[in-house]
Amino acid sequence: MNDTECLYTLITGASTGLGKAFAEECASRKMNLILISLPNENLDKLCEKLKQTYQIKVQCKETDLTNLETVVDFANWVTQNFTVNILINNAGIGGTQGFADSEIGYLDNMIQLNIRAMTLLTRILLPELKKLNSSYILNVSSLAAFSPVPYKTIYPATKAFVHHFTRGLEAELEDSNVSVSVLNPGPIMTNADVSTRINGQSSYVKLSIMTPAQIATIALGKMLKGKSVIIPGIMNRINAFFIRLVTENFRISVGTRIFKREKKNSDENTDNRSKQSSWKQSGKKTIAR
Ligand SMILES: NC(=O)c1ccc[n+]([C@@H]2O[C@H](COP(=O)([O-])OP(=O)(O)OC[C@H]3O[C@@H](n4cnc5c(N)ncnc54)[C@H](OP(=O)(O)O)[C@@H]3O)[C@@H](O)[C@H]2O)c1
Repeated sequence: MNDTECLYTLITGASTGLGKAFAEECASRKMNLILISLPNENLDKLCEKLKQTYQIKVQCKETDLTNLETVVDFANWVTQNFTVNILINNAGIGGTQGFADSEIGYLDNMIQLNIRAMTLLTRILLPELKKLNSSYILNVSSLAAFSPVPYKTIYPATKAFVHHFTRGLEAELEDSNVSVSVLNPGPIMTNADVSTRINGQSSYVKLSIMTPAQIATIALGKMLKGKSVIIPGIMNRINAFFIRLVTENFRISVGTRIFKREKKNSDENTDNRSKQSSWKQSGKKTIAR
């Protein structure tokens, strides 16, 4: 397994969405890869495809990054067996729910994945990154980091952590060979849940939608040029400018209107799905009888 001669790019959450787009973009630039996701058949398929198409080395690891011991073991396995010169902390989860209705496990997973896994992977890999002539850390935050967002509550708070952590670390490493960037994308059509939520938004919000591939190309290019804060797309840069221009109370009242509607759509979809599922189950029972 030991392959410390070659350089690798490590991408978390690489089986789908933005992480997969990062993997494809890096592979097209002939970078060797270490890809992580939850146990998922998509990851193996992606690894095989990238190896064959681009003739690069790809290691896949199915790991639950919400588990402390697993994160530490995984990071130590990486440092002992590979030389990583680019770390892309992409894995993250979110959603739109009233806080009081949220399950404890849902909240805990979001905090452990979005905050703890990113922090510890960075901490454990940093001494190795510092040994190289040049290396990079890219942490995926969100435009949501720039404001409290009702009905998302925990998600923007975790993304504000990612943003502030990354900017602080960047300053600490200013005189080192490690370049540190944070990515703050707006809405991206990734998984079905996110796409349904985005489709229920206003035409204005839809103007800022970008594809995972567009974001990965922009983010990787700017990261390699050493850009600190990467906000892809003109509409997202305009939005980020206005978000920071207006008062926090104004942002919260606009956010309440937008995300109350998103929560309502999301609740209706869940209701429809459960009605369909109970209809299917009752159908099965009829057939079985
Ligand atoms: N989509 C948006 O509109 C949007 C906007 C701004 C920022 N972002 C940020 O962009 C990043 C990627 O988002 P996305 O929409 O592309 O996500 P996604 O499509 O849901 O993909 C998430 C990835 O993370 C992996 N993952 C989830 N839980 C994990 C865990 N416990 N351990 C290891 N891997 C895990 C998933 O693996 P499995 O496939 O195996 O579950 C998948 O590969 C996130 O940090 C998100 O906050 C997204």
